[in-house]
Amino acid sequence: MPAETPTLPRHIAIIMDGNGRWARQRHLPRFAGHKAGVDTVRKLVRHCGEMGISAMTLFAFSSENWRRPEKEVSLLMGLFVTALEQQLKKLNKHNVRLRIIGDRSPFNAKLKALIDDAEARTSDNTGLELVIAANYGGRWDICQAARTLARLASQGALDPDAISPELLQSHLSLNDLPEPDLFIRTGGEKRVSNYLLWQLAYTEFYFTDTLWPDFDHIALEKALSSYRSRERRFGRTSEQISAAQDD
Ligand code: IPE
Ligand code: IPE
Ligand code: MG
Repeated sequence: MPAETPTLPRHIAIIMDGNGRWARQRHLPRFAGHKAGVDTVRKLVRHCGEMGISAMTLFAFSSENWRRPEKEVSLLMGLFVTALEQQLKKLNKHNVRLRIIGDRSPFNAKLKALIDDAEARTSDNTGLELVIAANYGGRWDICQAARTLARLASQGALDPDAISPELLQSHLSLNDLPEPDLFIRTGGEKRVSNYLLWQLAYTEFYFTDTLWPDFDHIALEKALSSYRSRERRFGRTSEQISAAQDD
């Protein structure tokens, strides 16, 4: 096995796509697909926690998803509220720490309060770190970090020449987590859709046609098996990796 590929990814980032098509195949409204998608999240979180994966970042709502029909957007927001209300106890039972990334400002007061409460009440848990990206966009993330640095520079607290990739990174969402080792997109599309643009710089990509509500532990095992077969070189040559392995 390549020396630089740990058996298990520490951090998995997922674009949970295909809920609408899953529902359409069953002649159900799109919302039924989103509900089934929440069930998949519940099962997968438990499974990954048991496997010993440290962190999982799930794309639940992109900054572009506001362009969907108003009714779907409001049903999705409602589903987010219900999921937070219903799953908090289970998260604590399974020692999961919850965190939400993205721009919360457009959310209603009830949702904002639920997010704050769920984060606070799971903050001492030491198992899986579950990150939900909601109203998240990779460009927004880089932009808000740049804004913070610009503010510091304009106040005289930061020399613009001191801005390095490491410093910018320290102001991004997920700055305290290892970068994702594995990226999974379900639903067949092969694009990043403005997800973690900076953080995915050296992540291994895995795409599957499986629709998100059908993504079970067997589908996850296929992704993990593909990950294990990769040689992560981080710019080095394959020979260098083998030599390091022989040491
Ligand atoms: C992903 O499923 C969930 C969200 C974007 C909220 P979709 O709703 O995009 O499902 P498809 O792509 O239409 O099948
Ligand atoms: C990406 O899925 C966002 C989420 C899964 C939340 P989309 O279905 O919105 O992506 P595009 O628009 O097809 O790229
Ligand atoms: Mg989609």
